[in-house]
This record gives sequence, structure tokens and C-alpha cells, in this order.
Amino acid sequence: MNCVLPFDMMELKCLEFFSGIGGMHYALQKSNLIGKVLESFDINPTANLTYEYNFNVKPNQISIEMLKVDYIEKLSANTWLLSPPCQPFTQGGLRKDSKDIRCTALFHLFEKLLPNLNNKPEYIFIENVANFAHSDAKSRILKVLRKNYQFFEFILSPLQFNIPNDRNRYYLLARKNSISVSQLQYKDSDIILDWHLKKNENDINTLSNYQLEENLDEFLVPSKMFKNRKTFSVGVIVKPSDTYSFCFTKAYGRHGVGSGSYLQTLNLNLDPIAYYKEFVYKEDETILLENNMLNQFNKKSSKKETDTEKLENFIKMFGIRYFSPLEVCYLNGFPIKSESFFQEKTLFKFNTSKTNKNQNWRMIGNSLNVTVVSELLKVLVVDDMFWERNKIS
Ligand SMILES: C[S@@+](CC[C@H](N)C(=O)[O-])C[C@H]1O[C@@H](n2cnc3c(N)ncnc32)[C@H](O)[C@@H]1O
Repeated sequence: MNCVLPFDMMELKCLEFFSGIGGMHYALQKSNLIGKVLESFDINPTANLTYEYNFNVKPNQISIEMLKVDYIEKLSANTWLLSPPCQPFTQGGLRKDSKDIRCTALFHLFEKLLPNLNNKPEYIFIENVANFAHSDAKSRILKVLRKNYQFFEFILSPLQFNIPNDRNRYYLLARKNSISVSQLQYKDSDIILDWHLKKNENDINTLSNYQLEENLDEFLVPSKMFKNRKTFSVGVIVKPSDTYSFCFTKAYGRHGVGSGSYLQTLNLNLDPIAYYKEFVYKEDETILLENNMLNQFNKKSSKKETDTEKLENFIKMFGIRYFSPLEVCYLNGFPIKSESFFQEKTLFKFNTSKTNKNQNWRMIGNSLNVTVVSELLKVLVVDDMFWERNKIS
């Protein structure tokens, strides 16, 4: 969406909770909205180190549940940006939902701080995994918001923004009401799943546009990542000409299939999956190449283990490598290269003398898609037509 920014736009004075490596801060910059981050908060020293390395400001390392109303009130912020921990809503995190201790900070913000602020933020923006949409934790947050806010919910993937990476995420955009709306009058609208981006033929964005690494050896996928994997779904190994890659999670580089895609860099005219089936895992007749066979990966194979040497040859022959941490950042919309003379903002980089590859993958896997968030921030703040059109009567 290309919004024309009104001249009289209110300056956004943001608090960035659960700031990590600053995905929200970058999204604010990318949106071109007038605004600044007054303070960011995160307990993770490695993420804070990266944040400081880029923005020259150290996030507040206090645990959010320790924040007091007076402290927040004095900051005089009018915008809250937050992407709380997702583990309470993921399978890997046991999906304990609101019973998970990692929700405490979120409830502190919405049940202890927000109701007691005299100057409540005009705008609130939340990002989380798609499962959050159906959680008890979300219901608790909405119960508070209904008293003073109108809000819209989205579940969107960067694929809908012409970015060749899947990262289906939940977004909540809330605007403070001028008059208080009582809970009874309020009717929830549906979660919005579509994004109207005009695509044209020349606009197809392939993974090759995000390739930054020349050094194959450094990022070659170790054979253990392929061991005992009897199935491959489309998207595990992608080519530079592809317009799709799996969501990169914080486990990328440590877990095998399911944490992100691998890039084929050699013999691009050949199909590695067909080759794997024919020559590497020939003894297994149950290889399935359909799209959503991810569950199959988790089932124990009773078949013989794939020969390590064969696997290593397979990986070398096709030059199958990881996307580097910086490439994942690039796919996630972080500014890696300056793109235009006028948009010279803070570029993103890792402090590679202090953090290693695995830490960097972990941090970016925890982060968010800056482009998607920047577009939604514009909807939140300046797209009055959207709010009018979707007004709850
Ligand atoms: C999903 S990540 C958000 C990442 C961030 N949006 C980014 O761009 O990197 C959640 C973050 O919340 C932080 N966190 C978790 N519990 C916290 C707490 N109680 N107080 C402050 N930060 C916390 C974690 O360290 C982690 O960086």
C-alpha cells in the first residue's frame, strides 16, 4: 500500500516491547511515518547487543513484568509496538497458552499497566504466530482493548507482499476510541486474510534477489541434516529462481527439515529431489514428494540409514547450502543494502565479532517481517479510509 502521509500527522512516540533485534524499529523506519522509538525493552543480552550495535541505543534489559505504571506514564508514549514470545502458542513450546509463564509480561502490559495509564497510547500494534489468533491469551488482551480501542486483526504471509518467503503471522492493529465503546456494543470483525497487492508480470520476486553469499563452503548443509529424512516436500530445497521458501525459525541451522529452506546453488537444471529419490535413498519406496508431508519427517523411519558418503556427494553436487543469517534478514525485509538515496536509514548488520552464526539465525528466526509490519503500520496510522470502511456499527 502506498499511503500519502498527511502533513499534520501526529508524531509517533513509540515504546518497543520485546524488542529483540529491533524488527519493529526497522518497520517504523521503513514505513516513513513520522516517529521515533523512545525506549525498547528486552531481557535477551545477545539481542540487545545486536540492537545497540545498529541503533546505538541500549534497550532496557528489565523484565517487562517489573515495569511500573508511573515509569510508563512519564515516558509519554503514544504508540506501543510489541511482538511477545510465541512459544506459549507453538507446538514446540507445548502450547500452554495463557498458562505459560512466558505470557506473564504480556498480561502485565495489558492487565496491569494499560488500564491504569491516564494517557493510554493512541496506537497499539501486536505481532505473533498465527496460533495466537485462537488463544485464550488473545481473548484476555481483547477484553481489555474493547474498553478503549477499535481494532482489526490480520493473518498474513510475506508471500502476499511478493516476498519469496512464507511467514504466516498474526497482527493486531488497535486505535484508541475518542469515545469509550462498551463491551456489549462491540462486535468482533473477522480476521483479515487477504492483502490487495497489485502484482504485475514484471514484479515477480525470486530468491536470487536475496542471494548475498558467494562462499559455498561456509554454509554447506551438513549431511546429518538429511539423515533419516525419508521424505522431502517441495520447498525444503529451493532454487534461486523460486518464488517460495519455508519460514525460517529460530532453530534454523540446528534442526533439519521444518526450520527453513536450503538453497540449491549448482546443477540448477537438475531436480535434486528426484535425484535423491533415485540415487541416495533408493531403498525406501515410500518417498513422498507432495506438498504438505512435513509430519512424515517426524515419524521414525524403520528403513536403513542413508549412507553418509552418498549424502555428502549429493549435497556437494547440488551445492546445497543454508541461507546465511544476513540473507534471512534480507528476506525478512531488514535493510541490508541502502536502496535509494533518499531512504538512507539505519542499515542492519550483525556484530559478527561477538555473535556467531547460530546465535544470528536464532535472533532473526525470532524476529519479524519488517516489510509486512511497515505496511500494516501505515494502515494503523494513516489509512483512515480503511478504518472508516471497516467501522463497526
Ligand atoms: C518473538 S521475540 C521478538 C523479537 C523482535 N520483534 C525482533 O524483531 O527481534 C520475543 C522477545 O521477547 C523477549 N522477552 C521474553 N520475555 C521477556 C520479558 N519478560 N521481558 C522482556 N523481554 C522479554 C525475548 O528475549 C525475545 O527477544
